Amino acid sequence: MELGVPLPRRPVPGSYGVPFVSAVRDRLDFYYLQGQDKYFESRAERYGSTVVRINVPPGPFMARDPRVVALLDAKSFPVLFDVAKVEKRDVFTGTFMPSTSLTGGYRVCAYLDPSEPNHAKIKQLLLSLLVSRKDAFVPVFRSNFGALLDTVESQLTSGGGKSDFTALNDATSFEFIGEAYFGVRPSASSSLGTGGPTKAALWLLWQLAPLTTLGLPMIIEDPLLHTLPLPPFLISSDYKALYAYFAAAASQALDAAEGLGLSREEACHNLLFATVFNSYGGFKLLLPQILSRVAQAGEKLHERLAAEIRSAVADAGGNVTLAALEKMELTRSVVWEALRLDPPVRFQYGCAKADLEIESHDASFAIKKGEMLFGYQPCATRDPRVFGATAREFVGDRFVGEEGRKLLQYVYWSNGRETENPSVDNKQCPGKNLVVLVGRLLLVELFLRYDTFTAEAGKKVVITGVTKASTSAVNRTA
Ligand code: HEM
Repeated sequence: MELGVPLPRRPVPGSYGVPFVSAVRDRLDFYYLQGQDKYFESRAERYGSTVVRINVPPGPFMARDPRVVALLDAKSFPVLFDVAKVEKRDVFTGTFMPSTSLTGGYRVCAYLDPSEPNHAKIKQLLLSLLVSRKDAFVPVFRSNFGALLDTVESQLTSGGGKSDFTALNDATSFEFIGEAYFGVRPSASSSLGTGGPTKAALWLLWQLAPLTTLGLPMIIEDPLLHTLPLPPFLISSDYKALYAYFAAAASQALDAAEGLGLSREEACHNLLFATVFNSYGGFKLLLPQILSRVAQAGEKLHERLAAEIRSAVADAGGNVTLAALEKMELTRSVVWEALRLDPPVRFQYGCAKADLEIESHDASFAIKKGEMLFGYQPCATRDPRVFGATAREFVGDRFVGEEGRKLLQYVYWSNGRETENPSVDNKQCPGKNLVVLVGRLLLVELFLRYDTFTAEAGKKVVITGVTKASTSAVNRTA
C-alpha cells in the first residue's frame, strides 16, 4: 500500500478583484484578449496552483455571482462527479441559467439535482429509450452518413476540391438522431421539413449566447451576447415547431414516460432537450473535431485504422456489427483521445454541499459550504502529471492495451470517469456509450470507403481530398 506524504494545506489562492469591474474585464480576457485556455492557464501559473479563485464568464448582468473556485488538474476535478459533496441544481450552464420559457416552463433534467424526484424518472426515461433503440443506431448511422460521404465525393469533384464537413454534419446529425431515437426522420415532419437544424441552432444560441463567441468585433458582440439574455419570444415559433415533431414522433416514449409517473408535456420538453441540446449540440461539435484530429494525424494512423476496421468487418462477414466494433481497439482509442483533448462540454459546475477538503497534486484546500466549484475540463484531461510529456498531443493509440486502459479513469468528458457508468443517482451523461459508439461509426464509415483523406480545420472542418479504399472488407471474406 502506498503511504503517501500528507499534502500541505493552503488557502485557495487567487483573487476576484474589484466587484463588477474585474468581472467584466475578466470576461473580455476570456473571450477576446486571452482566449479560454490561456485565461485559465495564466491564472494557475500566476498563483502557482491548479486550484484557484477566479471569475468565470458571463458575469454582469447575466450572472448574479461570477466567483468560483476553479479546479484545473486531473486530481481535484472529480469532486464535481460526487453528488454527495456537490449540489448540481441549476448549474448545468454555470453561474447563469437560461429562462425556463425556452424549455416550456420546465427545469429539464440537466438542471435537476439527483435529490429532486423527477431527476431519476427523466433519466430512467432516457436510459430506457436508448436501450430500446440499440439495434437502430448502426444501420441508421450508416445510411445517413453514407449519404453524407456520397455528397462529400460529389462536392469534391464539382465544388473546387472542397467539401464543408461541418455544414453537412449539422444537417446529417439532426436527421440521424431523430431517426435513430424515434424512427421518424425530422425532415419528413410537416412542422419541420428541412428547417430543423436551423431552428435547433437558433434555439441553442438563445441558451448558450452568454458562453458563445461568433467571431464578431468585441464592441458589438459582447453587449449583444454576453450582457443580457436574448428575448425568448423571438424564438418561440421555432421551439413550437420542434416540439410538434417530438409530440408526434416520440409517442411511444411519451407513453413510457406516463408509466414512470411523468406528465406527457414535461416528458416531451425533456425529450426535446436531450435530443436537440444534449445529443445534437454534442454531435455538432464532436464529429468535426474527431475528423479534424484524425486528418491531422496523417496517413500512418489512417493505414492502421483502415486495417483494423476492415479486418474486423471482414471477420463479421462484411457487416458492421456491435461485436465487430468491440474488436476495434485502436478505433475506440482514437475516439477517446479526441474526447480527452477536445471535450465538447468544457465547463462543469457544482456547489459545495458542506465544508470540504479538495486535493490537487500539490496541496490540500479547505472549501466552505456554498462555494461554487468549477472545472475546466481541458486543463484536467490534458494534465501532464497524468498524461506525461505528450499530454497536449493527439496520440491515437494512447488507450490501447492494458497500460493504456489504466488511463481511461482520467477521461472525464461525460461528467464522470470513462470507467464508470451513468445512473439515475448520478449526473453522468446518459448518452456516454452512444457517443463513443457514434464516434467509432464515423471512423468505420470513413475507413471502409477511403484509405486516407485530407481536411483543413479552422472555424469549419473542410474535407479537401479522399483516396478510395484499395481493399474492401467485403472482398476479403470472398
Ligand atoms: C449530461 C456531455 C451527448 C443526454 C451531460 C454532461 C456532460 C455531457 C458533460 C454533464 C453536465 C453537467 O452536469 O455539468 C455530452 C457530450 C455529448 C453528449 C460531450 C456528445 C458529444 C448526449 C447524448 C444524450 C445526452 C447523446 C442523449 C440522451 C444528457 C443528459 C444529461 C447529460 C440528459 C443530464 C444528466 C443528468 O441530469 O443526470 N452530458 N453529452 N448527452 N447528457 Fe450528455
